Amino acid sequence: MPDDKSFHMTPDEFRRHGHAVVDWIADYHSRIESFPVLSQVKPGEIRASLPASAPAKSESFDTLLKDVEKLILPGITHWQSPNFFAYFASNSSGPGILGDLLSSGLGVQGMLWSTSPACTELETHVLDWLVPMLGLPEKFLSSSTGGGVIQDTASSAALCALLAARERATNYAGNQKGCDGRIVAYASSQTHSSLEKAAMIAGIGVSNLRLIEVDENFAMRPEALARQIEADKRAGLVPCFVCATVGTTSSNAMDPIAPIAEVCRPHNLWLHIDAAMSGTAALCPEFRYLQNGVEFADSYSFNPHKWMFTTFDCDCFWVADRKALIRTLSILPEYLRNQATESGAVIDYRDWQIPLGRRFRSLKLWFVIRHYGVEGLQHHIRRHVELAQRFADWVRNDSRFELAAPVPLNLICFRHKGGDAVNQTIMERLNRSGDLFLTHTKLDGKFTLRVCVAQTNTEARHVEKAWKRIYKEAEKVTVAW
Ligand SMILES: Cc1ncc(COP(=O)(O)O)c(C=O)c1O
Repeated sequence: MPDDKSFHMTPDEFRRHGHAVVDWIADYHSRIESFPVLSQVKPGEIRASLPASAPAKSESFDTLLKDVEKLILPGITHWQSPNFFAYFASNSSGPGILGDLLSSGLGVQGMLWSTSPACTELETHVLDWLVPMLGLPEKFLSSSTGGGVIQDTASSAALCALLAARERATNYAGNQKGCDGRIVAYASSQTHSSLEKAAMIAGIGVSNLRLIEVDENFAMRPEALARQIEADKRAGLVPCFVCATVGTTSSNAMDPIAPIAEVCRPHNLWLHIDAAMSGTAALCPEFRYLQNGVEFADSYSFNPHKWMFTTFDCDCFWVADRKALIRTLSILPEYLRNQATESGAVIDYRDWQIPLGRRFRSLKLWFVIRHYGVEGLQHHIRRHVELAQRFADWVRNDSRFELAAPVPLNLICFRHKGGDAVNQTIMERLNRSGDLFLTHTKLDGKFTLRVCVAQTNTEARHVEKAWKRIYKEAEKVTVAW
């Protein structure tokens, strides 16, 4: 083999292929409505179209891009389609994609301040920007006792919060000796499953995560929380952590933070707020009442990768007392020692998260915030909420349907009055049609349809079409029965 053959992509080739990829992405977004929103492939179909083994010889980049079109696209569920109403959105946007590309281009690993000062300092700065943008308490600012960090997901944020709470409650003995089965944590019965996973990983145990009962609006009952804490204390257990949710996944229920905080205070419990989806609404002052009492929180997280047009993954996580988090997660092996760390003058974000390594995620968040400005972000959030409220009115005014939960923001939970099988059939037929994608939940034991109006490019016409498709499909299903 000749010594001068490098196999690498040259800068000129990279430029040419990079332009082609950006063109492909722009074209993809222009034609996205022509694809079935939910991928229609069968299990194994994508793999069956791929060669059984890796190529021995280099292939041309043009071939790769052609294969994306031919082999990969059929297996894509189009999360960026404006007809995507399922789950909670996982949004992207031009500035988000370009920020992510730049992060890949720089290829920075920002585990320590010294491994790329800009990676750390931009992150600290953008998270400080977001504190007043979202009306969060000043104690979350890096200039105060707290600070913010970007995690991959809300699940990781909840785990970090739970670990710090466990350590604070055990005077940092848990990390040394492990848990003895007496540590207890609390969340509502509607909390996201990531809390259960966090309880498993943190050694607390799923049975020591108390799932507190909810009211008729699926929000945690503070008095039930208080009763459970008292009972646990009487039993000699050690309550350490409460998670309140601003916008539950199932129905967008809002746990009452201020009364929950009042329950936590006398017991010195760590109050974490999971605002993964709905936290973005706080960009608009008129929606901040939904998180009244946020000033009492020990930690808070929300996902710009859900509703704030920032390409996955990007979860913003703040703590009121950074020392507690750092003391919980910090280990400093010899090979990571450096002068900046020793000086105490810098943040090393490896101490604020589970993994050691980390990407330059703040670039995409910085791009999104600067591209839209606060005004642009507020515009889209208000628009989504307005469209969702319009949809809720259509449901209210149609005697064949009913709302299954309040609609505080942009998630509508509703059902046809014909029963579970009718609703499930409507959903499956619509999703098979490819025209739109919606998912379901169970509320009060009944199959419930969920429509979340949050996709970056969803406009009035998409929401109108969705409602029309739903009630027309309902007519067909009920006639057929
Ligand atoms: C309220 C809530 N918390 C946590 C999560 C988990 O999010 P992630 O995928 O960022 O871990 C979700 C996901 O939808 C959610 O809705």
